[in-house]
Amino acid sequence: MTTTEPTMSGPELEALIGRSEINDLEAILSVVSPSDGEPEHHVPSTFDTLFTWNYERSHAPMSRLYEKAKNSQWNGATDLPWDTEVDIEKVVADNFLARAGGSFGADFDPAGTPFAKWGDKEWLQLGVESNRWTMSQFLHGEQGALVCTARIVETVPSIDAKYYAATQVMDEARHVEVFARYLHDKMGGEYQMNAHLGLLIDDILRDSRWDMTYLGMQIMVEGLALAAFGFIHQMTTEPLLKQLLRYVMSDEARHVAFGVMGLKDVYSQMDAAEIRERQEFAFEAAVRMRDRFLQQEVWERMGISARDILPMVMENEDRKLFQSMLFSKIVPNCKKLGLLDAADGWLRTKFTELGVIQFEDWVDTAVEYETFDAVNHDREAQAAAS
Ligand SMILES: [Fe+2]
Ligand SMILES: [Fe+2]
Repeated sequence: MTTTEPTMSGPELEALIGRSEINDLEAILSVVSPSDGEPEHHVPSTFDTLFTWNYERSHAPMSRLYEKAKNSQWNGATDLPWDTEVDIEKVVADNFLARAGGSFGADFDPAGTPFAKWGDKEWLQLGVESNRWTMSQFLHGEQGALVCTARIVETVPSIDAKYYAATQVMDEARHVEVFARYLHDKMGGEYQMNAHLGLLIDDILRDSRWDMTYLGMQIMVEGLALAAFGFIHQMTTEPLLKQLLRYVMSDEARHVAFGVMGLKDVYSQMDAAEIRERQEFAFEAAVRMRDRFLQQEVWERMGISARDILPMVMENEDRKLFQSMLFSKIVPNCKKLGLLDAADGWLRTKFTELGVIQFEDWVDTAVEYETFDAVNHDREAQAAAS
């Protein structure tokens, strides 16, 4: 698998993402978190709320997805083992020991780096902060999904999509609830929203076109979340988090499938200029998510200047591999929507430069979503046992 890092630069990039060098650290670090010292964040926007008088349920796959969603609701307060004792330091230590080499500390030569004097204590603390940061971004991202899907209920034209999106609003409320509770009860509180995640969600909300809410949230943000949840679900030895992620993923797979189903026909009828705009939006989202995973707030918390450490972090092979894996759902879904190859294959070129094109033939989420159904699987197992 390639872990080629992008070398993109130039005026086109400047117009798309506001900086002419993709790895321009000063520009990356200059973005401020939307929750920086503020109790609330306001995003001004204008959009049309759309009523339909056509109540006929004409989109069979989406109608099926809606029925499935109604039968797959779970209760975040009673369906998870909240009485589990969580020793976060032990979880981090297990993660260190599970990786190749099975030891604490750097998997590189730390001489001459800010890590040179670090012992087990600092590495453990980095692991704890990094975990807490990751879970915090999931929490804030879930709130982004909550407000985006509430928006979709208002703006999407078809009744099938309004019905389905309404179930997703409930799902996202539950996700915010369980991540907030996990962070508060088991991890000692949350980090503020990462600046780049905030920028991306603001961009999605500022756009008045309903399909852009879908593309930004359902395809890009949720596609990445589904891959990230899958990775952590597989890695973690903590039983409460494992169950929480298993149930959240069971919902998220439906959400991404909804995005693919909702956009497929619409995009097949757009002209090249309209598609190119969607490709650019998808690319911009991909870069924001890549910037986000530099987790600049964690380095500052550890007393290391992000400016000093990020050039090294960007070169770390494990990080590159993990980061590219996060696109394993996004790329096949973009392909299914025709976004990779339309408009002269502009997005294919960009995803190749980002080092993530290798996922294009992986199964798309509209096909695989039912394999994630943990909630009904557990109910059937319980019924069979009783
Ligand atoms: Fe969610
Ligand atoms: Fe979701």
